[in-house]
Amino acid sequence: MTVDPNAATQGFPGPGRARPGPHPARYLVPALVAAAVALALGVYGKVHDPAGTAFNLAGFSSTGAVKSWLATAAMFFALVQLVSAAMLYGRLPGPAWSGRLHRWSGRAAFLIAVPVAVHCLYALGYQTYETRVMWHSLLGCFFFGAFSAKMLLLRSERLPGWLLPVVGGLVFAVLTIIWLTSALWFFRTFGVTT
Ligand code: HEM
Repeated sequence: MTVDPNAATQGFPGPGRARPGPHPARYLVPALVAAAVALALGVYGKVHDPAGTAFNLAGFSSTGAVKSWLATAAMFFALVQLVSAAMLYGRLPGPAWSGRLHRWSGRAAFLIAVPVAVHCLYALGYQTYETRVMWHSLLGCFFFGAFSAKMLLLRSERLPGWLLPVVGGLVFAVLTIIWLTSALWFFRTFGVTT
């Protein structure tokens, strides 16, 4: 039997050769970056004086309405992420462009969520005056940490197959709770208005 000398470097174990597990740094670096990002946002949100700045867009009645609709759009793209990921993992039938759909829906969800979160952090700050608001602030910071970890893990090879779906699922679950504790609350309190 011939053994491909490059087999191990291509990510496939050579016959009869023990496959070394991933170096701990492959987990440790994303985990440390996630913690640092979440902590930095939380500390900034907590120590600065909330600016209270409001902004508006033509056609919208308030800052909260603009943010709630943007958060809902981010949630929509996050759902596309979930469905396209299931296609990529063969859990749902999908087109050949499932990969592109997954990448672009992810970029869209992130780009829409950033200005909303920037307003939250800068104008409202890290608040804990209600259980709902406490979870929203905490998970808002955690989201950007977990998102950074997922981006780093994407670039890492030879990780266990379950890791990416678990971290991706966590990012999705966290965004869902952020949406439930903000946009859904806003629509239920003030009505579904623009
Ligand atoms: C993915 C990230 C985030 C999204 C999509 C998001 C979305 C929203 C939305 C739609 C609202 C309701 C509109 C408003 O009252 O202005 C809101 C409120 C709020 N957000 Fe965020 N947010 C995010 C991250 C954060 C972060 C990181 C913090 C602080 C550390 C934060 C703190 C707050 C606070 C204090 C409120 C007011 C809550 C209330 O009194 O009802 N948010 N957020």
